[in-house]
Amino acid sequence: MKEGTNIFDLSGKVALVTGGSSGLGRVFCEALAEFGADVSLTYNVDEKGARETAELIKNLGRQSLVIKANVNNPDVVQHMVDETVAKLGSIDILVNNAGINAKPAKIAEMAIEDWDKVLSIDLRGVFLCTRAVLPVMVKQKRGSIINIASIKGIRAFFELTEILPLAHYSAAKAGVISLTKETAVEYSRDGIRVNCIAPGWHRGTRLSRQWREEAWQEEQRQKYEDAISRITPMGRRGEISELKGLVVYLASDASSFMTGQVLASDGGICT
Ligand SMILES: NC(=O)c1ccc[n+]([C@@H]2O[C@H](COP(=O)([O-])OP(=O)(O)OC[C@H]3O[C@@H](n4cnc5c(N)ncnc54)[C@H](O)[C@@H]3O)[C@@H](O)[C@H]2O)c1
Repeated sequence: MKEGTNIFDLSGKVALVTGGSSGLGRVFCEALAEFGADVSLTYNVDEKGARETAELIKNLGRQSLVIKANVNNPDVVQHMVDETVAKLGSIDILVNNAGINAKPAKIAEMAIEDWDKVLSIDLRGVFLCTRAVLPVMVKQKRGSIINIASIKGIRAFFELTEILPLAHYSAAKAGVISLTKETAVEYSRDGIRVNCIAPGWHRGTRLSRQWREEAWQEEQRQKYEDAISRITPMGRRGEISELKGLVVYLASDASSFMTGQVLASDGGICT
């Protein structure tokens, strides 16, 4: 590497970020554009949010493309990839961010349709997007895939079993971690790196609000907040902007010898 080279520079690169209309996805789009990448971002329902993210990218002087795409539909996913390559020229970075949650329930009471729904988007969606992007990356002999899992895919939390039992979500995210490692080794000789971010509890996203703010009573909310601060060594939830550095690091040459890794950003929970 030449002296003075910015190893985090993403100029000339094209990123595809799924679920870029809110939360972590929007922050990832912004961070990648701040470091020079053009960004194709997808949404499934929130077009307004996706357009707002695109505006942020444009204001940073980068190109953006907004595509409506349900990550669970193989034809739509293929269209998302073809459209990105046709309009922006390549895909150098894929961020598999789109994800959902479903009603918390212990396993014996868990609705089978909730299990199927979460697995179909949080795990099958990552598989479908990766599967469609790989031929593009193999052809150009370069690429960085960044999967967004969760610390719930790394370990179980006894302290949360009564408040937030989410076996469907945890199993899907554990699957994402395994898929990260499999993809990394299968394509390690093709110039493609595959890594995973496992966030802990963060503020400011729809997913994080869904149950706490929309469905829970004040007492449940307080129990949840107390449990999170008790089990998090740093004693607080993360801000989504605190994940910016990780996505830029994994997308860029700064992590050029790193593949198949899971990086937890969780205030120390998985230590
Ligand atoms: N918020 C947290 O604390 C936290 C912690 C760990 C992991 N995560 C993960 O971060 C990712 C982003 O979640 P978030 O917290 O920003 O929530 P969010 O609800 O704000 O964002 C989720 C995004 O996924 C998109 N999406 C949902 N279903 C889709 C589908 N079928 N097809 C395409 N897009 C779809 C949504 O439109 C949205 O843009 C998820 O994978 C989530 O599991 C979040």
